[in-house]
Amino acid sequence: MINLDNRLKQCAEFISGKGCAVDVGTDHAYLAVHLISSGICKEVIACDLREGPLQSAKEHILGEGLQDKIKTVLSDGLDNIPPDGVSDIIIAGMGGELIAKIISRAEWIRKNKVNLILQPMTKANDLRKFLFQNGFKIKCEKAVRSESFIYSVINAEYSETSNAYEDYEIYTGGLDFHSEPDREYLKIQANRLIIAGQGMLKAENKNKDVILNGKEKIRLGNIISDKLNSVRKD
Ligand SMILES: C[S@@+](CC[C@H](N)C(=O)[O-])C[C@H]1O[C@@H](n2cnc3c(N)ncnc32)[C@H](O)[C@@H]1O
Repeated sequence: MINLDNRLKQCAEFISGKGCAVDVGTDHAYLAVHLISSGICKEVIACDLREGPLQSAKEHILGEGLQDKIKTVLSDGLDNIPPDGVSDIIIAGMGGELIAKIISRAEWIRKNKVNLILQPMTKANDLRKFLFQNGFKIKCEKAVRSESFIYSVINAEYSETSNAYEDYEIYTGGLDFHSEPDREYLKIQANRLIIAGQGMLKAENKNKDVILNGKEKIRLGNIISDKLNSVRKD
């Protein structure tokens, strides 16, 4: 059996297991196979946009003898996935903007209050902004270290009520300022914002918008940094 990396292990921890789980962009179906073999889920749909990864998924599933429990579907996002009985959706290893696009195209996620497990590789701030502005609540979020990178895994659900949020929260989401490795992730966010802002202010031929944007980035980075310094570490 494959030893899952910490990123996918954390995804598995957020699964409710109440019904069928859909692994969007399954690639080799590592997570899908783990969810069944570990008893977290009884039924999984592993889908991918491309034939190549889906073929790898099929071979892995067949190799583990799990073809009766894991269905494979060629699908752009959730376009070809039947909503009935789906309790959990995992979208991991893609950019934050693409994840947001996939969620926004499947209206049934909101209606059925599906448990979402989202693991953006880039632009996590854009994904959090999409969630906040479209009625989704971040129930929990955890940072995980995998080899030399640190990733965030978001657990969200449609909440109906509109979510007021502070502007810096699109960089911090549901992460915990008290605990590692969330603090490590947050420090990286703060430093990136400050460095990007300083770079904008130093640029030659900058216009008014660049100056405003640069100052805003530094302000947000400083808020996160101050919060990190003011809260007690567990
Ligand atoms: C980097 S792999 C991630 C694999 C696995 N989910 C993980 O996190 O380790 C991204 C996978 O997403 C698939 N993908 C990209 N865009 C997609 C889309 N719109 N719908 C479904 N799958 C997509 C790719 O074909 C690829 O297999």
